[in-house]
Amino acid sequence: MNTLTLAHYYTTPDVQAMADYVGDSLELALIARREKAQRIVFAGVQFMAETTKIINPDAEVILPDAAATCSLVTQTDMAALRAWRERYADHVHVSYINSSAEHKTISDWIVTSRNVDEIIASIYAAGKKVIFSPDRNMGAWLNYQYGYQMPVWNAVCEVHDKFKEEQIEYMLTSANGKAWLLAHPESPLPVLKRADMVGSTKQMLDWIEKFSGATEVIYVATEEGLLHNMRQLRTDLNIQQAPIYSGCQCNACPYMKRNTVDLVRQAQMGKGFVIDYLTEETMDQARKPVERMLSFSQPKRNAA
Ligand code: 13P
Ligand code: SF4
Repeated sequence: MNTLTLAHYYTTPDVQAMADYVGDSLELALIARREKAQRIVFAGVQFMAETTKIINPDAEVILPDAAATCSLVTQTDMAALRAWRERYADHVHVSYINSSAEHKTISDWIVTSRNVDEIIASIYAAGKKVIFSPDRNMGAWLNYQYGYQMPVWNAVCEVHDKFKEEQIEYMLTSANGKAWLLAHPESPLPVLKRADMVGSTKQMLDWIEKFSGATEVIYVATEEGLLHNMRQLRTDLNIQQAPIYSGCQCNACPYMKRNTVDLVRQAQMGKGFVIDYLTEETMDQARKPVERMLSFSQPKRNAA
């Protein structure tokens, strides 16, 4: 059987080394669709494996560990979300990809942190109103940046929500203008307002790769796994995790770290949490907003 192994940037370096491709959530979704493998091992979290199954229904999709979920999913009660969506029946419902398959079935668009700005701008440009779920911090950032008044669902990423204004402010003031701050949009709004650059995992990596300014240190407000990829790209830069609070400074996603080398190896042999529980109806309904996003995000052909 031909097997494709995908790993998100937040998995450990030894797991990333086992993958055919390492990427952010959008890249991995596009690769999964392009490669058409019979078996796809997804070293990531459950919503990513579910999205992969939805767009590759004939493939066997395996998540190495069933407990690899995401706080944005577990904090979203579906009955309450349905009632909220009905309250705004005349709005376009845009949902972050960090959502369950059932959540996707009641969404009009799925977005990732890489394409959310452009997709929501295009919906507003068409004269429509938008509601955004489930990430409260990302929604607050979009409303702040563009002056939208989107009603926003109330769930957070438990990893990025640990970055707090007080510690960040202290760190930047002590650095006397010699430090830069990059932040993932799942971080709280006061942190994002202080950042020099806000972007998805891939956008932050691209920024680091091209960086040519003067600096003593670049602080990054995201999951610690990404720092490994950044340091590989630029051995000349001093790249540090932004502080989270005064105690332990570890900031690993407990769900991404469920992907151990042993479990990924077993999944490559067909053992693990097989994504075989989604009904045809759920997959058909969830596929529409996902495909809408993928078509929007496909690299455009040159008109030569
Ligand atoms: P990306 O879309 O940047 O890969 O982020 C996914 C994620 O889970 C961030 O916490
Ligand atoms: Fe979910 Fe946060 Fe982990 Fe990403 S880092 S998978 S958003 S809990």
